[in-house]
Amino acid sequence: MNARFISFEGIDGAGKTTHIQRVRQHLEHLGHTCVLTREPGGTAVGERIRDVVLHQPMAAKAQLLLMYAARYQHVCERIVPALQQGHWVLCDRFEDSSFAYQAHAAGLGSQVCDELSAWVLDGFAPALSFLFDLPVEIARARLQARSAGVAEDEFERQALSYTQKVREGFLLRAQADPQRVRVVDASQSEAEVGRVVVQHLEHYLAGVVAVGQKGQG
Ligand code: TYD
Repeated sequence: MNARFISFEGIDGAGKTTHIQRVRQHLEHLGHTCVLTREPGGTAVGERIRDVVLHQPMAAKAQLLLMYAARYQHVCERIVPALQQGHWVLCDRFEDSSFAYQAHAAGLGSQVCDELSAWVLDGFAPALSFLFDLPVEIARARLQARSAGVAEDEFERQALSYTQKVREGFLLRAQADPQRVRVVDASQSEAEVGRVVVQHLEHYLAGVVAVGQKGQG
């Protein structure tokens, strides 16, 4: 089976980072190799951009451009080469985050994102994306419990109303592309969320195998 690119999305505190590990374990158990990476980041340039966007107040447009600069470098330097070498790539956030945070919540609009996306990525997209969805109050409480005493970044500092818009933005992306984006109710227990994630993954893998077999027939 060809290696695939999977992204993990959701508001801060949704728990996506935990479940990336679960997907990795599942894929490795099936004999695949995985590369774990994140956005913004994933390359030396991307990590420097991450440091700036997360810790420096700036205009949303500047944020968006930096996200796409980091993304282009990430795709060329890390993601595509890993896929070509046969590794599965599991990415903590990708383009849906730009639509949810910058286009929807910060109000830049999805058209500018669509245009940037077409120019920068030329149709390159994850084969599968998990959206960890939950009420913003629960996510905020989890975040506070997890990071007591740790300084918040620019995004975690935002009001709940902004995070609510981010959540809506993600759900709109899922509605627009239900085949790719699997919405997982992340308000449930970690074990239950993990079970649902593995179920979605198995369903996806079964579909890929079926298509592959048809292609060979
Ligand atoms: P994340 O890696 O989830 O942070 P943490 O290390 O705290 O778990 O996300 C970094 C932040 O970057 C997150 O608040 C969302 C934001 N972000 C955007 O606003 N747009 C984007 O395109 C991406 C990829 C991230």
